[in-house]
This record gives sequence, C-alpha cells and structure tokens, in this order.
Amino acid sequence: MKGIILAGGSGTRLYPTTMVTSKQLLPVYDKPMIYYPLSVLMLAEIKDILIITTEKDMPDFKKLLGDGARFGIHLSYKTQKEPNGLAEAFIIGKDFIGNDCATLILGDNIFFGPRFSGTLKYLTRKIENEGGACIFAYPVKHPERFGIVEFDEHNNILSLEEKPQKPKSNYAVTGLYIYDNKVIEYAKNLKPSARGELEITDINRIYLYNHTLRMEKLGRGFSWLDTGTPSSLLQAGQYIQTIEENQGIKMACLEEVAFRMGFMSKNKILKNIKGFKNNEYFDYVRKLVRQ
Ligand code: DAU
Repeated sequence: MKGIILAGGSGTRLYPTTMVTSKQLLPVYDKPMIYYPLSVLMLAEIKDILIITTEKDMPDFKKLLGDGARFGIHLSYKTQKEPNGLAEAFIIGKDFIGNDCATLILGDNIFFGPRFSGTLKYLTRKIENEGGACIFAYPVKHPERFGIVEFDEHNNILSLEEKPQKPKSNYAVTGLYIYDNKVIEYAKNLKPSARGELEITDINRIYLYNHTLRMEKLGRGFSWLDTGTPSSLLQAGQYIQTIEENQGIKMACLEEVAFRMGFMSKNKILKNIKGFKNNEYFDYVRKLVRQ
C-alpha cells in the first residue's frame, strides 16, 4: 500500500495568512498541519508516501520533512501545477503507485479517534486482498459543504453527491480514501466537472457502480476536524490543545508514531532529536521513548 498526501491548492479562503506559505504548513496548535494526515498514513502502517504540493511550496515541505528518514518512512515529492481536482493525485502519482494500492489523504484533514490504527490496518489489508475502495463517512452539521454519502439501514451505499444543494444525508465523505490499483485508470478517464475539477466523488461513483465501494462510518467519540477557514483552523488548534493538555499526550507526534509502530528504535530517535533542547515537543518525545 502506498500513501499520498494532497497538499496543494491555493488556500485563498485563508488569505492573507496563506499568501506566502502553504495552508498545510500552518500550525495547528503545536505542530504543522501536515503532521496530522502524515500520522494517519503512518498509523495505517504505510511507509512509502508521496507528498503532492505546489511548485512554490515544495521546498518548504522538503525542509520540514526531508526524505522521511527521521520518522522511519520514505517520502517522495511531486508538484501539482494547478488545483485541477483531488482525483488528479492519481495521475500525478501514477509512477509512484506502480502496481500497488493507494491511500489518499487530504493535507488539511485531521482525524482522531479510538482504535483508528487498527481500523486503518484492517481496511487497507482488505482492499489489498479483495480490491475495491473504501471511504469514511462522518456526520456533519453543514452537509451542503461536503461530498455526501446516502446509505440504507444496512449501510449499503445508495448515492454519492459532491456538495449537493439538497443533501440526502448528513454524512460527509471525509478526505481519506483507500483504493485498489484501478484508481489510476479511472482517474485517467475522468472528465472535469462543471466546476472544472477532476472530482474524487466521480471516482468513488465508479466504484459504487461496480459494487466495489465500502464505507466505514466514523461515529460518536471520533473527531474529524476541518481547517478550511480562519475560525475552523483556530477551533481545531484549541481542540488539540485541550486534548493534549488534559491527557498529557500529543496527537500526531510523528516521532512517537514511528516509535510505537516499530518504524524506529529508541536510540535512533534520541540521536535524531539530540540538538532540540528546551522544547516541549521534543522533551515529550525524549520522555516517552525512555519510559
Ligand atoms: O474534506 C473532505 C471533502 O474534501 C470531501 O467531502 C469532498 O467530497 C471533496 O471534494 C473535498 O472537498 P473540499 O471542498 O474540502 O475540497 P478542496 O477543494 O477544499 O480541497 C481539499 C484540500 O485539497 C485542500 O487543502 C486543497 C487540496 N487540493 C485541492 C484541490 C482541488 C489540492 O491539493 N489540489 C487540488 O486540485
């Protein structure tokens, strides 16, 4: 299974903050936004990850994350020239994916919930073994702002719509998708939508039509946070601060995830962060791996 983080886009809704930097590099409380989706892929045991970003922002992503060795993973980078739609990720990432399956996560999506790592490992293996695709549904207050999935009482998917004016359900399709290798072919044959984008919803509709689309509902007790506007970005930061301070843990601490997933040894992590003194984040990592 390969992983892709889509971290392009123009970020205009966050102007002037994103005029000179990428949205996905902005801080969400105590770490850059991209740490959160990257941690999700690592929790799914995915170690080979492609980051797709704009030409302008790519040097900053590389400066921050490098080749991934610091986290026991392998990172590659590609650019998306224009925000032509989420499904373009599979055209840009074609050679990177090769003959594998691919999990796509949007660089501005934050997921947090119990047993998530186990769920992700189970579902990625299922798609690898049986083919098809998997989407994650989450109840939202403003369904007209998202891709929406309608389903029956047995969780059979009935329809998928992108930002419908009259949503048929209040379940959004979140920005995390697992696909078999056919996704490359489907993406290549896609036509741009009325708003001029290669829509991920159109890809998901092909899987639905072929009866190969699964849905995992993320229910109560699970958090899926939006970071698209100044106020939702601030709220996401405050939410993370509350959890981290209450529980004395860190969310999306990449060194911790690498350690817990067995990607890196204690000694390697300690050596890598040796230079970072008097810093809350790295003091947390030191304490954790020494315990
Ligand atoms: O967040 C979940 C939603 O993401 C889904 O419910 C929708 O079905 C899906 O279309 C998408 O909707 P958004 O309106 O949130 O998509 P947006 O255009 O804002 O793009 C999401 C992120 O992906 C954003 O951080 C920018 C990045 N992006 C977007 C496009 C269109 C790219 O990197 N490249 C692109 O071409």
